[in-house]
Amino acid sequence: MSPITTQRHGDILIVTSNNPPVNALGHAVREGLVKAMDEADADETVKAVVVICEGNTFFAGADISEFGKPMQMPMLPMVVDRIEACTKPVVAAIHGTALGGGLEVALACHYRVAVPDAKLGTPEVKLGILPGAGGTQRLPRVVGVPKALEMVATGNPIGAKEAHDLGLVDRLIEGDLTQHAVAFAEEVRDVRPIPRSSERDDKLAEARANPALFDEFRKANAKKFRGFDAPEATIKAVEAAVAKPYAEGVLDERRLFMELMTGTQARAQQYFFFAERKASKIEGLPEDTKPRDIKRVGVIGAGTMGGGISMNFLSAGIPVTIVEMEQAALDRGTGIMRKNYEATASKGKVTAEQVEGAMGLLNPTLDFGTLAECDLIIEAVFENMDVKKDVFTRLDKIAKPGAILASNTSYLNIDEIAAATSRPQDVLGLHFFSPANIMKLLEIVRGAKTAPDVLVTAMQLAKKIRKVAVVAGVCYGFIGNRMLIPRQMQAMQLLLEGATPEQVDKVHVEFGMPMGPFQMADLAGIDIGWHRDPNRIENIRDKLCAMERWGQKKGAGFYDYDDKRRPSPSPVVAEVIEEFRQKAGIEKREITDQEIMERTIYTMVNEGAKILEEGMAQRASDIDVVWVYGYGWPVYRGGPMFWADTVGLKEIVAGLERQRERLGSDFSLSKLLTNKAEAGEKLTR
Ligand code: CAA
Repeated sequence: MSPITTQRHGDILIVTSNNPPVNALGHAVREGLVKAMDEADADETVKAVVVICEGNTFFAGADISEFGKPMQMPMLPMVVDRIEACTKPVVAAIHGTALGGGLEVALACHYRVAVPDAKLGTPEVKLGILPGAGGTQRLPRVVGVPKALEMVATGNPIGAKEAHDLGLVDRLIEGDLTQHAVAFAEEVRDVRPIPRSSERDDKLAEARANPALFDEFRKANAKKFRGFDAPEATIKAVEAAVAKPYAEGVLDERRLFMELMTGTQARAQQYFFFAERKASKIEGLPEDTKPRDIKRVGVIGAGTMGGGISMNFLSAGIPVTIVEMEQAALDRGTGIMRKNYEATASKGKVTAEQVEGAMGLLNPTLDFGTLAECDLIIEAVFENMDVKKDVFTRLDKIAKPGAILASNTSYLNIDEIAAATSRPQDVLGLHFFSPANIMKLLEIVRGAKTAPDVLVTAMQLAKKIRKVAVVAGVCYGFIGNRMLIPRQMQAMQLLLEGATPEQVDKVHVEFGMPMGPFQMADLAGIDIGWHRDPNRIENIRDKLCAMERWGQKKGAGFYDYDDKRRPSPSPVVAEVIEEFRQKAGIEKREITDQEIMERTIYTMVNEGAKILEEGMAQRASDIDVVWVYGYGWPVYRGGPMFWADTVGLKEIVAGLERQRERLGSDFSLSKLLTNKAEAGEKLTR
């Protein structure tokens, strides 16, 4: 049965799509829409048409799962043209989200009505492509060039109220959408000429008079768009809308669309769309596992981590009890939370009432026993096994039966921590990334005895606090930090052999990472995890720490910093490196960028493959999700596992073999990686 059905309401033809879950514009939907337009045109008694969707949302876009397969006719550009050509006024009735191809369908309709909480946008750029069904040509004609540029190049949607102010939505509908859309269609049924967005050009005048706005836009967003192909293509397409007649502009759009669609970035970004959604599926749990009820969360420790973690729950309306050992630390922690909220409010992202609402849900206390009222308790104390065990032993005595006990450890063994309690089934790791109120990633660490409903609860809560969660097994550093270890070790070794921190960082930044290993160390603080004995100097890092070159916070680390925290290469660091090079008896040599790649990035791939073969990650794509959301791996390269597949596993193995001598005696090749390379297979499939 076709997902598109038609039904009469007087002289209005109601065209309804029912294609769960998001009314994606798959082949059957496209075919159905064309037939419905034919029906409307052929039937003299039809005076106007309403296009509406059942379920949660209006068309949320093209069906992404069809990408990369042979396209079945009619293609979306034909469908939207067919809708716009309809000889009866067509009204799009929007609820949920009108995204991508969905917004293009709406733009091809002659009118648009929407419920106030609907969202409209062109997220294609996030999939490495651009709106390829006339969207880059129609949208600027309807909302003007500056707004259209912003929408297509960033992919961020706008709300229906803003869309109404811009003229993208003709009427906001309170109450029953179908009923009001039909009434609207009755009002406009006889209006002639029928307004067609492709025929307008009044809103292009501003940009025609000031074509410099495109370069200004490029400049203003250069940092955000760095490395991505799609944003520039979307800008070019909108430029074509301004410079050329509609019929020519759409040809430019098509050409740019096809160039993007056949490129690696689009493949990577589309792969990542599904990777992110797959990450929430936990393998090996009974189907009927029900989550536990979490009404109040406890957080132990009001430091940077504890505060950030608490803010996630408060923002989602979940009350938090936060415990510290001393009043001053508690006051400092809650003060920083308030300041962070107020900073967000000053940017207009939340209201003053929301700030008060969130802070009002916080119960700061020095009384550990108060945690007995919590359904989930997360400890964020000092990263030391004895300290953590002590906390869990105490928690075991006071937490209510069935409460979930979580550790925010970044490295430590969750099973060992769980063994400090009489209820290891209730224990798991919840590894937040710093700053915890901002970073999207959450590693859920599944202990050997963690109960299925504890895992399901954690995954559901992650969604509630708008995190992307990935399940990791118990191993040192879990997924993300474990892969950092070989990278950091090799980066340090490369300094001894002749590379500079700048050179190593440059390779990573040019690859697309937000920063390189040494920039990251300076930002995080080189002293984190340092033994703090200034007389015990065994390596470059010990020496820098002893010199109080702890990174940005001290104005000096691997780099020197000025008062605006701008880095410059440090002669002092160069001397320290030289000193250790001589001590190690290593001769300085030229290091190529390729060697840096092979020793720092190929080794990460190798570690990822080991994580996979040991079952510490459920699937290769989960590792990619960790790196994109936890460490800023460029999404247009998919993630380390996907990227390795695009390079070719044979080449990755060959690169590691080339470096084998230099990688040290601790290095070993992953069997999974070599087996897959030999078999011509991929990690992500
Ligand atoms: N095509 C195929 N499947 C899609 C899809 C799409 N466009 N959008 C969502 N889905 C699937 C998801 O994979 C997920 O499937 P599973 O349940 O099997 O995991 C399911 O629909 C539900 O999706 P979410 O979990 O994301 O649901 P949500 O309620 O959190 O969000 C949404 C809904 C806001 C619509 C979100 O799914 C979304 O942003 N979708 C993508 C929208 C998009 O990018 N549209 C543009 C497509 S490209 C295009 O249209 C190009 C063109 O012009 C030719």
